[in-house]
Amino acid sequence: RPRVLSGIQPTAGSFHLGNYLGAVRQWVALQETHDAFYMVVDLHAITVPQDPKELRANTRLAAAQLLAAGLDPDRCTLFVQSHVPEHAQLAWVMNCLTGFGEAGRMTQFKDKSAKQGADRATVGLFTYPVLQVADILLYQANEVPVGEDQRQHIELTRDLAERFNGRFGEAFTVPSAYILKETAKIFDLQDPSIKMSKSASTPKGLINLLDEPKATAKKVKSAVTDTDTVIRFDPVDKPGVSNLLSIYSVLTGAGVAELEEKYAGKGYGALKTDLAEVMVEFVTPFRERTQQYLDDPETLDSILAKGAEKARAVAAETLARTYDMVGFLPAK
Ligand code: TYM
Repeated sequence: RPRVLSGIQPTAGSFHLGNYLGAVRQWVALQETHDAFYMVVDLHAITVPQDPKELRANTRLAAAQLLAAGLDPDRCTLFVQSHVPEHAQLAWVMNCLTGFGEAGRMTQFKDKSAKQGADRATVGLFTYPVLQVADILLYQANEVPVGEDQRQHIELTRDLAERFNGRFGEAFTVPSAYILKETAKIFDLQDPSIKMSKSASTPKGLINLLDEPKATAKKVKSAVTDTDTVIRFDPVDKPGVSNLLSIYSVLTGAGVAELEEKYAGKGYGALKTDLAEVMVEFVTPFRERTQQYLDDPETLDSILAKGAEKARAVAAETLARTYDMVGFLPAK
């Protein structure tokens, strides 16, 4: 079986619809066909300040949501990044192969550090993408299911894998990004020119999966569209309506053309009312399942412990080989 690996940050509160449609949904599907490794990336999370208590709670919350979304610990390996020390260890080696300018060209770093100011942005934030490279290469992943915003980090992974292989010998599988066109980028409901994200200026455009279903329905109904009335998929001229159609289509399995036909001659109100209902039907059981996992932290922690053990077996092997190829003296 080909292998996939991906990760998600333990953000405060809840995953948003972009995380789910852009990534997690694909993770669930790929566990059926691939040898799948998925993790909660707490090492990445501390590249920006975190309250220790909240970080711990958010890490459990992230794992609970992944299980609620449909990851099955018997079908995939689900673990927490800091439980597998090889991530930090390989990251160091990769840091020493990465150009300073090369790291400085990462657009997510440029955006985040510009927002924080040069003195507050940490070296950890600078080297964030290199840790991600290590995450992927440790498992010899063939494919990495992510949203469009991660593409540049996967390109860096490919470059560094090839660089290492060229300099020291074949050590790493060169991975590909697995990005589905329809859900590569879910847009903010209030400003369909920007991606849905926690850092958007207004929470009204952000669908948090664990919010009250009623609040979610309200956000869908007040989504920004355009002054036209025609329901047509056209991301350039009708980004708001197209975003709603994409979301509707993937959540229900109905094709976009089918939806265009269904809503021909009807107004935006009808589309939004129906999509709000679809969304409520999706988030209501999701919230319940997440709560069930949170109510039983012992079971949750033991799932994560087993996952870490399975992950470590693979990661340790890759790291040992890498250390040897680099020329480190064996400890034995
Ligand atoms: P993170 O936690 O920011 O996001 C998790 C996943 O959600 C996707 N995503 C979106 N997809 C579509 N539309 C959106 N609006 C949207 N917003 C977020 C992201 O593309 C991502 O796939 N650096 C990664 C975590 C990471 C990782 C890894 C990923 C660490 N190590 C190794 C893959 C492999 C991140 O911050 O994701």
